[in-house]
Amino acid sequence: QSTAVSRITSQAVTPPRSVVGIGNKVAKPDYSEAKIVVAMVGLPARGKSYLSNKLMRYLKWLEYDVKVFNVGQLRRSRARQKAQQSGKKEDHTASYFSHANAEATKLRDQLAEDSLEMLIQWLKEGGNVGIHDATNSTRSRRAKIEQRVAKEKGIVVIFLESVCDDPAVIAANVALKVSSGDPDYKDMSRETAEKDFLRRIKEYEAVYETITEPSLSYLRIRNVGDQVTLCHIHGYLQSRIAFYLMNLHLKPRSIFFSRHGESQYNVEGKIGGDSPLSERGMRYARALPDLIKDNIGDAPLTVWTSTLQRTIQTAQFLPYNKLTWKSLDELDAGVCDGMTYEEIEQAYPEDFANRDEDKFNYRYRGRSFTLLLFLVVITHDLGGESYRDVVVRLEPVIMELERQENILIVGHQAILRCLYAYFHNLPQADLPYIKIPLHTVIKLTPKAYGCDEERYTLPIGAVDTHRPKPGAKSFDSSSIGNTAREYYGAN
Ligand code: F6P
Repeated sequence: QSTAVSRITSQAVTPPRSVVGIGNKVAKPDYSEAKIVVAMVGLPARGKSYLSNKLMRYLKWLEYDVKVFNVGQLRRSRARQKAQQSGKKEDHTASYFSHANAEATKLRDQLAEDSLEMLIQWLKEGGNVGIHDATNSTRSRRAKIEQRVAKEKGIVVIFLESVCDDPAVIAANVALKVSSGDPDYKDMSRETAEKDFLRRIKEYEAVYETITEPSLSYLRIRNVGDQVTLCHIHGYLQSRIAFYLMNLHLKPRSIFFSRHGESQYNVEGKIGGDSPLSERGMRYARALPDLIKDNIGDAPLTVWTSTLQRTIQTAQFLPYNKLTWKSLDELDAGVCDGMTYEEIEQAYPEDFANRDEDKFNYRYRGRSFTLLLFLVVITHDLGGESYRDVVVRLEPVIMELERQENILIVGHQAILRCLYAYFHNLPQADLPYIKIPLHTVIKLTPKAYGCDEERYTLPIGAVDTHRPKPGAKSFDSSSIGNTAREYYGAN
């Protein structure tokens, strides 16, 4: 991947302030000052909506408030309203998108402006990143956006241009548009739809101007994963967005998640620690290489583990390159490390109840250390994490996962929940209850929007470490439409 960085102005890069936690509950980070318009630029079928949605998923996982304002959707909903009032259907075939069609061009400009107004209003009401998902393919359109945003104190705009000249990717995007039940084409045959969409692209090509305006803050992505150009990108969030987009690629690949094999602590019902595998856990470690090989064949794969021995032991027979990440270590249970849930409930009843009430935010008490230094007693708390803390520590892992191809992560229950929630765009409240059973491999295959999922369970018994939220219907990931099957080997 080559990165063409033309001009980056490096102004102060200040991370957001975070609000101090109260007791063992950690308040939300304060992102109130982050207000950005990301205005997409690009011809139809160049992956703008794909990039918008990826960016939204990433930033939402980091707890920014993000919303995509899709001008196509606004156009269709307005057209529906008009049709209901007048009984006449507006023609949205290719000629509607022609520059020569002055009346339609005016309407389309108006739609883009209205959508931008809605976006700005939403930012003023508390949103952080509003993505203007439109073609914005002429200098004059971009100038209007720049001038409008400049009137708003505290709101900045960056343009994100998606250029794609790979015929295979364009063809795939066209096919996706006409076959995915897109409302523009739902009443047409596939052939007519495809012809019309290709004509629409031609209409845009006739007036398309790539970004060359010297004053604009922009990012240009060429064939996602090939080349990125950055210009006037400054500020904390803008840099973060740029870095994320620089790591994306579209190569087909799979990401495998497996928890370590059953550990001694799992058998005893204890949390945390660094115990070795149980006898059944070792059987799982021995069976894992065949399962992975049957899935991936001779394709290259890299295995990531945590620094804890249960993951390293589980990965020991896998004949692939391995990497150990400290960031993949299990959620730190602080003073509760090595205890059973029953022991925790007895020793810290209030904490136990707090965790049940808000598991994502609850931070375990750290272990207290007391030092006697020159007759002064210093007490310090060490460790103790919440799911929110884990999400923050996993951010470099997500970044690297986006950059890499086939990866198998041999990890832990809480860690894999956080990573899984990122790939399936699941809400915070459900995240700490996602079912990631022992002795099961989860295979995620990224698709245009979201991921396909398959689960393979090895028939080697293991304890169930999932503790449902008392009194609530627990989150069941089978609602995601995955396929789960028992795995007995290839033959
Ligand atoms: O029980 C296994 C385990 O990995 C513990 O080490 C860890 O504390 C726990 O799962 C995390 O799950 P939960 O957040 O549901 O307690």
